[in-house]
Amino acid sequence: MPVGHLYISRDLGPTPMERLRASGRALVVHPDRDLPPGRTPFLEAVRGAAAVVSFLTERIDEEFFEHAGPQLQVVSAVSVGTDNIDLDAAGRRGVIVTNTPDVLTDATADLAFALLLAVNRRVVEADAFLRRGESWTWGPRLFLGRDLAGEVLGIVGYGRIGAAMARRARAFGMRVIASGSSASVNDGEVERMPLDQLLATADVLSLHAPLNSRTYHMLGPEQFAAMKPGAVVINTARGPLINESALVDALRTGRLRGAGLDVFEHEPRIHPGLLNLANVVLTPHIGSAGEQTRTRMAMMAIQNSLAVLEGRPPAHPVTGNSPDGLSRTAASLGPRGVDAAKEIFYGK
Ligand code: DGY
Repeated sequence: MPVGHLYISRDLGPTPMERLRASGRALVVHPDRDLPPGRTPFLEAVRGAAAVVSFLTERIDEEFFEHAGPQLQVVSAVSVGTDNIDLDAAGRRGVIVTNTPDVLTDATADLAFALLLAVNRRVVEADAFLRRGESWTWGPRLFLGRDLAGEVLGIVGYGRIGAAMARRARAFGMRVIASGSSASVNDGEVERMPLDQLLATADVLSLHAPLNSRTYHMLGPEQFAAMKPGAVVINTARGPLINESALVDALRTGRLRGAGLDVFEHEPRIHPGLLNLANVVLTPHIGSAGEQTRTRMAMMAIQNSLAVLEGRPPAHPVTGNSPDGLSRTAASLGPRGVDAAKEIFYGK
């Protein structure tokens, strides 16, 4: 294994791989395009790496950093979410973490909205009905769903993807509300209210919050009981935002009318109770799975890693790493050192 190499935990496809080869760096690439490396081969392959480009399936924790070694400078996530990465551990070692915001905003909002449409208009249920070969005659109540126009969409986590979801909803005539007041995105067109009021008002609730200790199980029995009867839940963010058993109960009792889920509490396992509910639409964490989006994400992750290796601040650092690593990061960034490191750790 070369020392100081750049490790990539998937073959990223022709354009990103070409860019990597053009960098002239020593590369170690997990050869599969789809499946992740196993834990042991992964830990072996990152030993001595200067940079690691990896996905949400790889756990980046203390054990990872110990195996990688002190020369590691950067971990570039090919995702916007970084809940699989121990940012404090990275910060303590002065390892810069980067992610891929913006480029997947529209793709993820598209899927969230597709789930909303599919649940409200019972598209998947109706498709399955026909495929079963059931005999049918047109009728005024056949697969009656809910109109979108006039419904209230409640957004929890009004960041870039939440705002993109809001734009789609408004185009369909929905009224959009969002929880909280301090918007990272403030487009002035969304009504703000506390979460409890939002739960009681929304016909459809769409989650776009990051997963952390504050948002874990933010929807559980209490919140489902507080929701408007017959509401729908959409989740394209992270599974553990929802207590899945409580969700199954709320769907079974009819408290909730339906759910559209792209992410799961114990991914890739899915709560068995969800699998036999007709009013639930399930997709396997494909929110950003647009061809162009995935290429842009890979390119962005590569540029972030190469920037750090070349002594430049990366364009998409994940801020908030523990300050312990600041001086080590400053040293690794050469002449711009301290200022660049502060920008990385505390944001611009
Ligand atoms: C992300 O980017 O966090 C998605 O969940 C995976 O693309």
